[in-house]
Amino acid sequence: MIKLGVNIDHVATVRQARRGREPDPVWAAAVCELAGADIITIHLREDRRHIIDRDLELLRQTVGVKLNLEMALSDDIVSLALKIKPDQVTLVPERREEVTTEGGLNAADDVSRLKESVKSFRDRGMLVSFFIDPDRRQVEAAAAAAADFVELHTGAYSGAAGDEEREAEFHKLEEAARLGAGSGLRINAGHGLNYRNVRRIVTLPALEELHIGHSIVSRAVFTGLEKAVREMRAAAGI
Ligand code: PXP
Repeated sequence: MIKLGVNIDHVATVRQARRGREPDPVWAAAVCELAGADIITIHLREDRRHIIDRDLELLRQTVGVKLNLEMALSDDIVSLALKIKPDQVTLVPERREEVTTEGGLNAADDVSRLKESVKSFRDRGMLVSFFIDPDRRQVEAAAAAAADFVELHTGAYSGAAGDEEREAEFHKLEEAARLGAGSGLRINAGHGLNYRNVRRIVTLPALEELHIGHSIVSRAVFTGLEKAVREMRAAAGI
């Protein structure tokens, strides 16, 4: 059965707009877990623009399903991850100015450093995933660095302009999944997936985990907004 990982960064983005206490991603994780999320995913970015260290620390104590931390290999975040020990780390590239993670990790140009990092995480009991583009060189590099998983970047598939482009992008994902599974890697997928394009993705060979954030939190605004307005009227007694 394919597992659903829910990325709750966007709940933290709303909280950080006021630098206050709500909405708390710790509450969000609990609701997601109650609703059937198999994995809770957070991305601790170098600039702490949404998830902050306190969230990682508390979520480590409260999340009862797999906790997956997306992170770049920067020294302070690596030390924090080694200390807090999420169940899984997903290594991503990071540029401060980007709106979201734009491309996959360039594993092919960094195999020896990545291999050392994989070992240090695995020695402390964590699984390691590389977020990569569906590209042969990157899949081979992930296998060479002994990653447990690759998370195939579905952004190009999700953003495809038409059927032909979408088909070509899906084909790349399929090939990468097949190659990865054949090289002993476990296969995940994520980025830009939504309620319309997810059905096809679950047909990828050997797929184990989906990682989805923005479309779920976007939908939650509209499935919850009406009730929230009614509750405010009731609270005010008007
Ligand atoms: N996987 C990775 C590695 C990501 O960086 C992100 C975005 O934080 C996601 C999945 C989720 O993408 P989206 O928010 O577009 O569903």
